[in-house]
Amino acid sequence: MNRRNFINIFLGSSLVGTIVSFLYPVVRFILPSRRIEASIKKVTAARLGEMAPNSYKIFKFGTTPGILIQTKEGELRAFSAVCTHLACNVLYESETETIFCPCHNGRFDLSGNVISGPPPAPLESYSVEISGEEIIISRKT
Ligand code: FES
Repeated sequence: MNRRNFINIFLGSSLVGTIVSFLYPVVRFILPSRRIEASIKKVTAARLGEMAPNSYKIFKFGTTPGILIQTKEGELRAFSAVCTHLACNVLYESETETIFCPCHNGRFDLSGNVISGPPPAPLESYSVEISGEEIIISRKT
């Protein structure tokens, strides 16, 4: 191997390495790991008595946030906190008793259905069960 071939191979492999190092994080961001999400089926979102009526709590469901709402009547409801429009995080607005997305004014009712704004689909609804002192959230099957 002469010096010219060595430099060509070295520069070519450096260029490929540089391109891969730029593309890898982009691909990982666009295609997040489904394995982690699939393995998480239940989480403890809160303890009993921790929440006041007409309030909410954000919890982690795997790598994504969830929202646990206690209605005025004391009923517990849980949804994915990721807006179905452009994936902003939603909040609970106690004055209007709706779930609100601050990014583009998307609004959902307490069943997760779209009331107004651009979200194209309802929020993913989770099952809520109480086990001892813990509020357990799980995916509906
Ligand atoms: S991201 Fe929620 S309304 Fe646009």
